[in-house]
Amino acid sequence: MKPERLAAIGADHAAYHMKEELKPFLKELGYPCLDFGTHSADAVDYPDIVFSVAKAVVTGQASCGIVLCGTGIGSAIVANKVPGARASLCHDTFSAKYARAHNDANVLAMGARVIGMGLAREIVREWLAGKFEGGRHSRRVGKIERLEEQLFTPEARVGSTLPPGAKDNEPQESQGG
Ligand code: RB5
Repeated sequence: MKPERLAAIGADHAAYHMKEELKPFLKELGYPCLDFGTHSADAVDYPDIVFSVAKAVVTGQASCGIVLCGTGIGSAIVANKVPGARASLCHDTFSAKYARAHNDANVLAMGARVIGMGLAREIVREWLAGKFEGGRHSRRVGKIERLEEQLFTPEARVGSTLPPGAKDNEPQESQGG
């Protein structure tokens, strides 16, 4: 599996069905998935799942992450706590394009109670196709990275340690189903 085109994906119960529908679509786009759950519509806590997805991205286990919940808001908040993760909450294709072009976002968050599957697919397509423009945006993203250096200990920046009480999830490799 080429790590440069491998998506980590995770959802809570509110977005379980969206995750399942996005997996074959991601495969079509050339992005097989590491699926960090949840694996049913039973209620779960989104921080547990989103943390594992963001960690997979910042440690290089996956090239990008997609996190889904009811609104996408909780998922974006959690992912952005993980040093090195730049999560973008996108419910339109314009934001999806510029999240990549200007912010070099490496995690996409969406809310399954906010948008339908058709728009979700288009957002994913646009986001994955987006290319970081660099230039002045590199300077700005660099300032985000320097903030992380100032605010987090080296151990936390690795992104591989678990905060107290957090649980880690093992991914399932998805063949598109
Ligand atoms: C779950 O009810 C809901 O709160 C969650 O999916 C998400 O919307 C949180 O931000």
